[in-house]
Amino acid sequence: MLTFRKAEEKDNEQILQLLKALDLYYAKLSLINFWVAEENKKIIAAAQLLEYPDFFFLGSVGVIPEEQGTGIASDLINDLFDNVNKKIYLYTIIPGFFERLGFKITDPIPTLPSKDQYECASCHSERCACMVWEPNDS
Ligand SMILES: CC(C)(COP(=O)(O)OP(=O)(O)OC[C@H]1O[C@@H](n2cnc3c(N)ncnc32)[C@H](O)[C@@H]1OP(=O)(O)O)[C@@H](O)C(=O)NCCC(=O)NCCS
Repeated sequence: MLTFRKAEEKDNEQILQLLKALDLYYAKLSLINFWVAEENKKIIAAAQLLEYPDFFFLGSVGVIPEEQGTGIASDLINDLFDNVNKKIYLYTIIPGFFERLGFKITDPIPTLPSKDQYECASCHSERCACMVWEPNDS
């Protein structure tokens, strides 16, 4: 059975392996505030939702290769929307994927985490967009 839930400490090793396999690992990554999709005790998707005073910041969204394209990431992110009451910002090089979930391209605000800390291998700063999603009542 597929479930979406907040990660626990016991999940850290699987989350780490998933992120490393997808080249989403970076040196300053802290394994806090992850949400996961789990099927038969295996973590098949993960996303990190960090809370700041005025917004959330979404990062490290990844799905194991065998399950990509089956809607898991969209379902996981839609599930996160039910748990937040503030804007969600993110940086991404695949804005098209996030646009379909309701994110819009925006200028970064000064209080966002710096792009410099995300030195993942596939990151192309010139193609990196800042996006925001707003809950209906904000
Ligand atoms: C991007 C990613 C999280 C999407 O997860 P997913 O579970 O496959 O996504 P979903 O099944 O919910 O949605 C699939 C749709 O997203 C689109 N999509 C997937 N990867 C994409 C990409 N790199 N660029 C643009 N669109 C993409 C697919 O074309 C598909 O569209 P379709 O339904 O019209 O065919 C997943 O492919 C992944 O883990 N990629 C590697 C890590 C990564 O790039 N993470 C994003 C960092 S910002």
